[in-house]
Order: sequence, then C-alpha cells, then structure tokens
Amino acid sequence: MMSHLLSIDSLSRDDIDHLMRVAAKMEPVAQRRKVTRVLEGAVLGNLFFEASTRTRVSFHTAFSRLGGSVCDTTGFTFSSMAKGESLYDTSRVMAGYCDAIVMRHPDQGSVAEFASATHVPVINAGDGPGEHPSQALLDFYTIEKEFARQGKALKGAHVLMTGDLKYGRTVHSLIKLLSLYAPMRITLVAPPGLEMPQHLIDRVSKQGLDVEVCANLNNDFSDVDVVYTTRIQKERFTAEMSEGFNLSRDYTVHKAFLDQHCNQSTIVMHPLPRDSRPDANDLDVDLNGDPRLAIFRQTDNGIPVRMAIFATLLKVEDQIEKDLRDV
Ligand code: CP
Repeated sequence: MMSHLLSIDSLSRDDIDHLMRVAAKMEPVAQRRKVTRVLEGAVLGNLFFEASTRTRVSFHTAFSRLGGSVCDTTGFTFSSMAKGESLYDTSRVMAGYCDAIVMRHPDQGSVAEFASATHVPVINAGDGPGEHPSQALLDFYTIEKEFARQGKALKGAHVLMTGDLKYGRTVHSLIKLLSLYAPMRITLVAPPGLEMPQHLIDRVSKQGLDVEVCANLNNDFSDVDVVYTTRIQKERFTAEMSEGFNLSRDYTVHKAFLDQHCNQSTIVMHPLPRDSRPDANDLDVDLNGDPRLAIFRQTDNGIPVRMAIFATLLKVEDQIEKDLRDV
C-alpha cells in the first residue's frame, strides 16, 4: 500500500478493493452509530489553496470521527506562501506539526512536489487539472454500492462521461481507476476544446477499456449504466478560450435526456459542485428528487471512503476493527 495518495497510479486493483472493504466497515462510524477514538491525539493539516466545500469538510469530518483533530488553512492569503514560502519549506514545517496532510493546490504536480519533502502521509485533494484520487475512490465506492442495490455486475458496465473532460481532474482519476476493472465500456462526450486528453484515452484503451468518443448527447445511450457529468471549469480557461465560449444545452444532463436517451436504471453522478448560475449547463435541477440522481448519496460516501484512506495510510485498520468489535 502507498505511503501517500497522490494519484490513482500508485494503487493496484487489490489496493482499491481493500480500501472499498475498509470503507464499508467505516459506515457505522461515519454515521455515528459506532464510535472509535483511534486517532485521538493525531493532527491533520488540511491545506486548501483552491476553493472547496465537500472535499475539505469531508476530510475534516472523517479525521474527526476517527478521534483526531484538524488544523485548516484555506487560501494562500492565510498561509505564509503569501510571503513567498516555498512548497518544500511549508512541507518540512507542517510535517513537524501534523500526522497527515491533505492538500489542494491550483498547480498540477504541486502536491507531489510537497509530498516529496516529507514522510508524513500526504493526500492529493486536487492539483489543478491533474488528479483528485480520493474523489475517484468515492465515485467507485458509489458505483459499486449502486450496482449492488440494482443487482448489476461491474464487469462490462457502460459509463458515459460528459462535460469538461479536459480540465476535470475527477474524470482523469476515475478513468484511470476504471481501467483497472476492464472490460468496461466508456463513452466520452465533451464540448469542442474540452475533450479528454488523448494520452489518457490511449493509456486506458491499452489497459482494456473500450473507449468511444461521441460528439454530443444526442445519441442512443439506452445501455448506459452510469452518466458521470462534470462542471465546465471556466476558471481554468485561457483568456482566448473564455472569449465567446457559450455552451449550448446539447451537453446538459436533464430529465428529458435521461428519459429519452438512457433507461430507468441509469444512475447520474457528478463530483459537484454543479453550476447553478443562469448560463450553466452541466446538470439540471429538474432531476432533483429523481431516484436515478445519485449525487447526494455520492457526497455521503465521501466520509467512509476518506476514513478508509486515513485508516490505511496511518495503519490503524486493525485497531478500528477491534474497537468496533468491542462496542
Ligand atoms: N468534488 C469536489 O472536489 O468538491 P469541492 O470542490 O467542493 O471540494
């Protein structure tokens, strides 16, 4: 098992299966039906240099529910990086204070650079358009749970990924993860200019995923099991891209799309946040209340999965099992 969680690249299929099993055992603790204080005295450094709601809060909650305490830093303004401190120095300092570090940063590769300066476990909570491995793990946990509920097999499943596949780090991590579970079918639908990087398509195809690229959502997706849609990450656009970018509803996942192009058991996932501004077009609110919309079950799954990540990185799984047996 890895010493940091920086990329899906560091995980084998056995590692992921193990994390999924540990996450399932964490459910009663995540829901506070059972209590363990296994991380009492331990401190998490929760460093977010980019906006976040669910990743930051769910990592905080997961560590707290295991008995640990959390130091949050949000935004460069409140960190000494605003005074020019390097990632190396910040990492060396934080390692003296914390037992684990979660970090989000706008630059791809920055979390790995930070991690290379310390032996304290570091979790990449999103490095620009790079990766977001804990999100992919909770997405996969959600897919396995939803499939189990529906009596579906993972083998040969068909996943449609749509939205911003270029800058969406969650889909970069998820497609790598799914490639470990080939054979599966993946259909990619992205607006022009926001396609999945070709090197990722080539890589996962070699690993056995059957990848098809479609121009838009106006197709027959009646055998799709999961629609995974993402927000258009306009904050990562160059000035040139921003100018005149106006996305049509052709890429929006809404009730009519699901009813007319998919099927009654197709689930809809989104890493969130979904964009609720008037010109947004990722995921319509008209699916709110529809049982196929799995987005809030997905966010709830963030707690047990992140607890499993801490338990594994900090090597306290056996102690937790013992604690849960004794209560
Ligand atoms: N899914 C996700 O990363 O959400 P936040 O940006 O709110 O953390």
